Amino acid sequence: MYLPTAHPWAEGESLGQYLDRRGVSRRDFLAFCAEMSAILGFGSLMTPRVAAALAQQKRPSVIWLQLQECTGCVESVLRTAEPTIGDLVLDVVSLDYQHTIMAAAGDQAEGALQKALKAGPYVLLVTGSIPLKENGIYTTIGGRTAREILEEAGKNAAAVIAIGACAHWGSVQAARPNPTGAVGVSDIIKDKPVVNIAGCPPIGDVVTATIVHFLTFGRVPDLDWDGRPLFAYGARIHDQCPKRANFDAGQFVEEFDDEAARKGWCLYQVGCKGPATFSPCPIFQWNTRTSWPIGAGHPCLGCTERYFWDLMTPFYGRLPNVGGFSVERTADTIGLGLAVGATAGVAAHAIATAVHQARQRRKAEAQAEGGSHGQD
Ligand code: SF4
Ligand code: SF4
Ligand code: F3S
Repeated sequence: MYLPTAHPWAEGESLGQYLDRRGVSRRDFLAFCAEMSAILGFGSLMTPRVAAALAQQKRPSVIWLQLQECTGCVESVLRTAEPTIGDLVLDVVSLDYQHTIMAAAGDQAEGALQKALKAGPYVLLVTGSIPLKENGIYTTIGGRTAREILEEAGKNAAAVIAIGACAHWGSVQAARPNPTGAVGVSDIIKDKPVVNIAGCPPIGDVVTATIVHFLTFGRVPDLDWDGRPLFAYGARIHDQCPKRANFDAGQFVEEFDDEAARKGWCLYQVGCKGPATFSPCPIFQWNTRTSWPIGAGHPCLGCTERYFWDLMTPFYGRLPNVGGFSVERTADTIGLGLAVGATAGVAAHAIATAVHQARQRRKAEAQAEGGSHGQD
C-alpha cells in the first residue's frame, strides 16, 4: 500500500532527481513515458518530450478529496496487485493528501490538507459526489461539508480532475429520486474547466495519462461535450469491440448460458449498451489489461455516460428501436442526445437495421437449407 508520507520530496528537487533517489531506472521511466504517449494518442515520437517535461517538474502537488462515494474509484486507480503505471504515477507526483491511504489521520490529516491547500497550486483530484440537500449534512469531514471542502480546494487548483461517475454527475446517489441531492464537481466549481474521467469506476490509466498531459503541456487534454478527455472517450465501445464482427454477422447471445454465450458472440440482445457508450474499455481494459466487462461475457451497462443508472436501465434490456443516429455520429452529437433524450436517446436505428438484416439473412439461409429455424 502506498503511503504518501513515506517518500517526501526534498526541497527544490526535480522529478528526475527524485526518481533517481528512489531507484527508478531511466529505462523504467522512459517505458512509463512511452506508455503514456501511446495512451494519449501521441505515438512514440512524443515520448522524449513527455520524458523531458516530466523530469524537470518540481514537486507537482496533488490533493485527492474523497467525498460521497464507495472507494471503488480509489481501488481502480491505485490497484496494487503489482507495481504498475498507476503506482509509478504516485512517484511522479507528490500526493499530499488522500485520507484513505495516507498514514496520518484526524487532525494530522486535516493539517496536511490545509498545508497543501495554502502551498498551492496543485492538481485537485476528486472522487465522490457532493450532497447538497439538508445543507450538505450527508457528507462531512472534519466538521465541514463536502461542498465547503471542495469550494476551498478549488480556489488554488491548477487543474481539477473529477474521477468516476460520482464526481462526474453524482452516479448512483443521484439516481432518481436522488435523496441526498447529489451533484458532480462541475456543478460546484464553475470558474475553471473540470475534467471528467467517466466511469463507475473509471480506468486508472486514464487518470494517470490526464495528469501526465497536464504536467507535460501545462493544460488539460481536449475534452468532449461532457468534460471527458477525447483521447479516452472519443470512440464508442461498439466501434472498438472485438465482438463487432459477431454483431455485424447477426450472431447474438440470447441467454447467458446458451451456446452463443459459450462461443463469445455479441451481447446486444442481452442488454449491451456498447453502441451508445463512449469509453476506452476494449483497448485499455482493467488490472494490467487482464479483462473488461464485455470480455468477461457481461453486457456493457453504459457506465461512462451521464445519468446511466436512469437512462441505461433496465441493464439487461435491449436498446430500443427508435430512429436516431448512425455510426458516423460523433461523441459530441450523441452525447447531446443522451443529455436530453433519456433511454430513447441511446437507441440506434443502425443497430435495429443490422439485427433485422441478420435475421432475414439467417431466415433465408434456413429456408435454402430446407429448415425452419430462422427467427423473426
Ligand atoms: Fe464507487 Fe462508482 Fe462512485 Fe466510483 S463512481 S466511487 S466506483 S459508485
Ligand atoms: Fe460489442 Fe456490445 Fe456492440 Fe455487441 S453490442 S459488438 S457486445 S459493444
Ligand atoms: Fe462501464 Fe461498459 Fe466499460 S459498463 S466499464 S463502460 S464496458
